[in-house]
Amino acid sequence: MAACDGEEDRHARQLDILPVSFRDAFDESCGNLKPAHTLSIAPMMEWTDRHYRYMMRGLTRHTQLYTEMIVDSTLLHRREDLDIFLGHDECEHPLAVQLGGSDPVQVGEAAALCEAYGGFNEINLNVRYASR
Ligand SMILES: Cc1cc2nc3c(=O)[nH]c(=O)nc-3n(C[C@H](O)[C@H](O)[C@H](O)COP(=O)(O)O)c2cc1C
Repeated sequence: MAACDGEEDRHARQLDILPVSFRDAFDESCGNLKPAHTLSIAPMMEWTDRHYRYMMRGLTRHTQLYTEMIVDSTLLHRREDLDIFLGHDECEHPLAVQLGGSDPVQVGEAAALCEAYGGFNEINLNVRYASR
């Protein structure tokens, strides 16, 4: 799809400010990140826990899996219990952890905990999901 007048410049500027590791995933024709996978099992609170994901991986290798949304403050207040919230099996890859939050600093700290915990292919941010 061709970009409209002016859009190409905007997309080039967007590409410029992206961290280097994300640049291959940027689609300049539309200004969006390319989806990493064609098919995903969507994140679902109270459903996509590690047991559900393990079962889904048994059904197909060809999908990205997501954790349930984990609220950022949960991780920040329960740093000693990260296995409860972030624990997963190797077979679940590719696996994205979904973080929920609205404070950029707090979400950033929670994302750093996920990165340090390790094993996730993606950190997905949910900034507007109402869980209740
Ligand atoms: C029970 C349930 C829980 C959900 N929890 C989340 C969630 O934690 N995070 C999220 O981004 N979307 C959540 N969703 C939305 C789904 O991920 C998905 O986007 C939605 O069901 C639409 O999917 P569809 O476009 O394939 O119909 C939830 C949906 C359901 C039904």
